Amino acid sequence: MATIRLGDEAPNFTAQSSEGTINFHEWLGDSWGILFSHPADYTPVCTTELGTVAKYKSEFDKRNVKVVALSVDGLESHKGWIKDINETQHTTVNFPIIADEDHKVSELYDMIHPNANDKLTVRSVFVVGPDKKVKLIIVYPASTGRNFDELLRVIDSLQLTAYYKVATPANWENGDDCVVVPSIATADIPGIFPKGFKEVKPYLRMTPQPNLN
Ligand code: BEZ
Repeated sequence: MATIRLGDEAPNFTAQSSEGTINFHEWLGDSWGILFSHPADYTPVCTTELGTVAKYKSEFDKRNVKVVALSVDGLESHKGWIKDINETQHTTVNFPIIADEDHKVSELYDMIHPNANDKLTVRSVFVVGPDKKVKLIIVYPASTGRNFDELLRVIDSLQLTAYYKVATPANWENGDDCVVVPSIATADIPGIFPKGFKEVKPYLRMTPQPNLN
């Protein structure tokens, strides 16, 4: 297992999931993707996380993002657990959950951190672009459930900054002003960002979010 870094190609794999066999790259197609791991089935925090992701499906769809979860339990366990998630979280799980019993995918993505637990995956998140490159990695311990509003926020930033020469400042939310990347000379900004800009300092130039009307 090699360390996966930002910009690396997301390792491909074929795995069983609650929605059939998945070849990761084929399943992604031209979409963005999120691969996220869970310590185990039938655990309380994971149950709330998967219910939340199911409720956010339309937000992920709007952003052309496919979501796939993973835990090291088997398919039968996943099927029973999905019933519990649907019942307790008042939703319908509408994305695949990989059954990684042999740890093939978790090892490929370094999702098992032995100093935390030598058998279960931690809460890893990998965001993959349509070019199959890794755009974001976040790792949480088992005891901390993820904030999926934050995940939507970073996807908005990743997609915006992939297509425009801007970066997003601290606590940026979709619609806020953006930072013009340092590689653009101030004299060139009006031609690139016609909505205008504010030079706070020569190295800190702000412009309205460029992909909004
Ligand atoms: C949970 O998903 O609830 C959980 C899993 C492992 C340790 C602590 C919490």
